[in-house]
Amino acid sequence: MTQPLTIALSKGRILDDTLPLLAEAGIHPAEDIKKSRKLIFDTNHDHIKLVVIRATDVPTYVEYGAADLGVAGKDVLMEYGSDNLCEPLDLNIATCRLMTAAIKDAEMPQGRLKVATKFVNVAKRYFAEQGRQVDIIKLYGGMELAPIMGLADMIVDIVDTGNTLKANGLEARDLIAPISSRLVAGRAAMKVKHAQIQPIIEQMAAAIERQR
Ligand code: ADP
Ligand code: PRP
Ligand code: MG
Repeated sequence: MTQPLTIALSKGRILDDTLPLLAEAGIHPAEDIKKSRKLIFDTNHDHIKLVVIRATDVPTYVEYGAADLGVAGKDVLMEYGSDNLCEPLDLNIATCRLMTAAIKDAEMPQGRLKVATKFVNVAKRYFAEQGRQVDIIKLYGGMELAPIMGLADMIVDIVDTGNTLKANGLEARDLIAPISSRLVAGRAAMKVKHAQIQPIIEQMAAAIERQR
């Protein structure tokens, strides 16, 4: 018997690039996800369902086994930091960089650095490795505003084109990690549902390879 399979998708900018990859794996939502207020969708396969949730919630659904597979940014996975998740595939979508940034040409204070970010765990780890004492200030978005307002000396945020930094008089400083979205699976699901998951991984991998 085919076991049921649930795939957790990040809503927002990743979704647009995820749907074509799912289609390459032969998985099509039964209705237009982007026109619906529903959070759970049937597909052309009786046993496969899609759930569409906040990017930061994807690792949680997958770790607890509420979803078998998920799609999430490496930034989100680094921040979540679980040993129970594996990343069978780099989807090579939503590529960007996780960086530190500060006001252009601003000198950093000698003592403790105030760092504003939504990536609290990543920032703590990064500055600890640098041997730098920091006070982390948790924000939920618009990090670029924090240095302008004197809330922080530095930010840790996603940089793509650099337009947001530039528009706010900031500059990128150091690269923390290159980012792309990943297919993520629970370690348990990888074992128990291997027969269903493996072909999906292989078909997506082939599609990604063709796009390179
Ligand atoms: P959120 O509301 O959580 O910020 P987004 O849809 O903006 O969700 O971002 C989802 C993922 O897309 C992020 O986790 C990151 O991996 C990637 N990402 C974020 N911002 C950008 C960007 N400007 N360009 C490319 N990829 C990005
Ligand atoms: C993301 C990120 C940066 C910006 C970087 O923000 O947090 O602010 O994109 O992209 P750029 O280098 O091309 O300008 P987003 O638009 O997702 O807003 P958010 O704060 O709601 O996540
Ligand atoms: Mg965003």
